[in-house]
Amino acid sequence: MTNPAARIGASGLDLDVVDHLLSTTRAVRKRLDMTRPVPVEVVMECLELAVQAPTGTNAETWRWIVVSDPEVRAGIAELYQNPTPPPVSPAPDVPDSAQQRRVVESAQYLSRHIHEVPMMVVPCVESAGGAAGWPPSIYPAVWSFMLALRSRGLGTTLTTVHLWRREDADRLLGLPQGFVQACLLPIAYFTGDDFRPARRRPIEEVVFANHWGTPIR
Ligand SMILES: Cc1cc2nc3c(=O)[nH]c(=O)nc-3n(C[C@H](O)[C@H](O)[C@H](O)COP(=O)(O)O)c2cc1C
Repeated sequence: MTNPAARIGASGLDLDVVDHLLSTTRAVRKRLDMTRPVPVEVVMECLELAVQAPTGTNAETWRWIVVSDPEVRAGIAELYQNPTPPPVSPAPDVPDSAQQRRVVESAQYLSRHIHEVPMMVVPCVESAGGAAGWPPSIYPAVWSFMLALRSRGLGTTLTTVHLWRREDADRLLGLPQGFVQACLLPIAYFTGDDFRPARRRPIEEVVFANHWGTPIR
């Protein structure tokens, strides 16, 4: 049955559904259910969606390592929990607010529990990139993957802490020369019903009109 109150965009898509997915895909750490197995098939379905994202020159320089093996997961967790230099401290330009303290506390929770996460995915990409380097050829797909996971009841957080020990991580996963690990996605079903949009800076503070610093409105 169609919902008469639905906001249908010019595209024909239900904007309530799309906007909700885009605005409530959160970094999930404390609400990861470590006891419930994650089927590889669901992860593959989400990766099929993720690789619809763009890459520079459409070269599809991405590779994805789906880590279900307990020993490999334990190896990654060990790197994550013993990084050099030490991890989670607020970036210097981040105000010391209650919200930031919650992020740090949540990140520390994930660090303590990462060895319990039932599934991990490591997005990798060719290190030779275009003018902007390699990140633009993997992060659009990483975000699509995170959205697809969320739509299927799976939570994750984009993490990078294990890359403080990048060489060990490359050795553990057998990365060939010419590829880099972009991040680590610890994946589990999330507990609870739903997520809310995050509090962000007012949009006028971060969007300019035509030149840096010119207010947009
Ligand atoms: C490049 C990048 C690196 C990140 N690294 C980590 C990390 O190592 N550990 C972690 O717990 N979260 C990490 N995060 C997650 C951020 O802390 C999180 O996205 C941010 O706090 C916003 O969370 P929210 O969307 O739930 O509001 C990273 C995010 C990005 C984009």
